[in-house]
Amino acid sequence: MSVQAPVRRITAPEIASRKGGEPIVTLTAYHAHTAAIADELVELLLVGDSLGMVMHGLETTVPVTLDMMISQGRAVVRGSQRAMVVVDMPFGSYEASPAEAFRNCVHLLKETGAGGVKLEGGVRMAETIRFLTERGVPVMGHIGLTPQSVLTLGGFKAQGRDEKDWESILADARAVDEAGAFSIVVEAVAEPLAARITEIVKAPTIGIGASAACDGQILVMEDMLGLNDRVPKFVKKYGSLKDHIHGAIKGYADDVRQRSFPAPEHTYGMRKAAE
Ligand code: KIV
Repeated sequence: MSVQAPVRRITAPEIASRKGGEPIVTLTAYHAHTAAIADELVELLLVGDSLGMVMHGLETTVPVTLDMMISQGRAVVRGSQRAMVVVDMPFGSYEASPAEAFRNCVHLLKETGAGGVKLEGGVRMAETIRFLTERGVPVMGHIGLTPQSVLTLGGFKAQGRDEKDWESILADARAVDEAGAFSIVVEAVAEPLAARITEIVKAPTIGIGASAACDGQILVMEDMLGLNDRVPKFVKKYGSLKDHIHGAIKGYADDVRQRSFPAPEHTYGMRKAAE
């Protein structure tokens, strides 16, 4: 009889300790199946609020609710064993006050079993990040393009294209870092700015459309698998799942229409009644 050691989950301090080391591999996941496949290949699975677009066909992440995040967070925790699971706090669940953010984060962590939360915003969210981290909630920051602000930004635009805008983004990075975030997602900023942010913060930076200068990378899994036609320019497709799924469903539909389907006697191994 072989006794297998239980698989231990990667923790927030372990992710934090990877600063400047081997790049941290992270992906989004929303389902138990995909989480199980990615588990041994990545260090961190993010249950991103991008699930609003990817799973629910929404135009933005604004309508995503805490219940939607809890439901998919549970699935990803169940599907994985090793990777740290971080769940996004959706728009409206953490901005009003640090105390409300704490209540919602604790509810989400208890319901899902995730190892941490992610929330968007720099200087404006620093007080909340400090409040949470001082009370036992591991927080991943998210600066640069913050998609939950789409209504005030007027669209999903790259940030800091103009050097004169760098200072406020650098201030965001410093504020989130000093508030205790264990890592920081940096979205849609040019390489020199991503490199500068990575240099000045002690937390590892996780880039998305922010060049290889970061300490790690994240992509939306369905985007890199080629399931989505509408993906940001920086996404490299590592698969063509849409074509694969289409081909498989077409094969099934053709079989059904041609009545070329396994008969129940094959499926169940039926025997003829004794004569
Ligand atoms: O919601 C999400 O998927 C994200 C990542 C892409 C960083 O926030």
